[in-house]
Amino acid sequence: MGIREQWQSRWGFILAAAGSAVGLGNLWGFAYRASEGGGAAFLLLYILIVLIVCLPVLVAEMVLGRSTGSSALLAPVKAAGDRWGLLGWLFVIAPLGIGSYYAVLMGWTLDTFFHALFVGLPSNISEAEMFFGSISSGTSVLLGQLVSLLLTAAVVAAGIRGGIERLTRWGMPILFALLLILAIWAATLTGTWEGYRTFLLKIDVNQFFNPSTIRNAFTQAFFSLSLGIGIMVTYSSYLDKRKQLPKEALSVASLDTAVGLLAGMITFPIVMSFGLKEVISGSTVGTLFISLPTGLGTLGVTGRVVAILFFALAYIAAITSSISLLEVPVSSIMDRLGWNRSKAVFVSTTLLFILGIPSAMNLNLLGKIDSIFGGVLLILGGFVLSIFLGWIVPRKFDEDLSECNSNIRVRRYLKFMLRWVSPPIIAFGLIVSVIDLVKNWSA
Ligand code: PHE
Repeated sequence: MGIREQWQSRWGFILAAAGSAVGLGNLWGFAYRASEGGGAAFLLLYILIVLIVCLPVLVAEMVLGRSTGSSALLAPVKAAGDRWGLLGWLFVIAPLGIGSYYAVLMGWTLDTFFHALFVGLPSNISEAEMFFGSISSGTSVLLGQLVSLLLTAAVVAAGIRGGIERLTRWGMPILFALLLILAIWAATLTGTWEGYRTFLLKIDVNQFFNPSTIRNAFTQAFFSLSLGIGIMVTYSSYLDKRKQLPKEALSVASLDTAVGLLAGMITFPIVMSFGLKEVISGSTVGTLFISLPTGLGTLGVTGRVVAILFFALAYIAAITSSISLLEVPVSSIMDRLGWNRSKAVFVSTTLLFILGIPSAMNLNLLGKIDSIFGGVLLILGGFVLSIFLGWIVPRKFDEDLSECNSNIRVRRYLKFMLRWVSPPIIAFGLIVSVIDLVKNWSA
């Protein structure tokens, strides 16, 4: 094995980590969850969870990666011994689970993009539903999934600097620019305020106590930050000691949350101004791919251009996330079995393709796998991580942060939160989520 690769620059790491965080979760997931009725309560809970609970866990996850310099599979063992091997496995299994259906969603995104570009937009809702039906079934869905996985594999095979860092350095600024342009455009639509109000600003105090809203807020916070399942361990293992992790974590979380909000400011006005509220409140995993093109379809050429830009943006966001999902098993295999990068990429990609076939074929199943792998497991991982760095190896946390000279008050604050605040709150979120999920499934 050669020397471990390293990020070229501070911004290289931040953009890569933010690239992992910003993804379909911000565009598709945020719209999908915010429209399930939580309104302002959902939004507020989500932001509070990010600020109070997730930020310290994000720093903890980064510390684990940097201080061990190991892949996600081996980092817990290296930090605290063989008894923690299971945590390493959680870190590999969860990204594989998400990666399997994430490529399916990417396939839908790519198809919708090409359709808008070459064919046009649907002229009514039933046409849009038919189109979505065609891209989400048969060989077309498998093709979209396969192409997306191959693109992801090509980037990861090119390595940390040559692949991941290079793509995110270009992709993220383009993504931010497109997002701003579209949000400004959306603000000029007639239904804009109606849209913000209905989905994001409507206050209903009961929603704070609604288990589904609580589960949605926790899931959105963890999923959107790519938190709790070893992604940040993996990316931070390529960092040197000079980077101030609390600062980097704050940048990543701010960028991610800002993108989520901006995305909501694009999708909801579109949905509202074209009277598609009914479609979106019967929210399913396909909502974004049906309501958005239909709404934009009524706007002629402008609508088509917006659709092309929006789905291009979504695809860029998605690929900078899917590379992080693939990098976890790849680096773990390289670490554990000593294989070279290309071979590890080939095997992991093949595995992801096979694992994703059931989700590709069955939307219902995709939703269920998403609630487990993209929901419960991340919250569980976040809980274990805060216990791990807060209670099991707290010295590691201190040492690593003091080596990079982070402010002592910040350090104390983070450690306090990690030990006393995050675990009970995450445990609460986890229990509510599991109960709510079981209830939904058995209903
Ligand atoms: N955070 C990514 C998104 O918002 C998805 C993701 C989740 C990526 C977990 C890696 C790990 O789309």
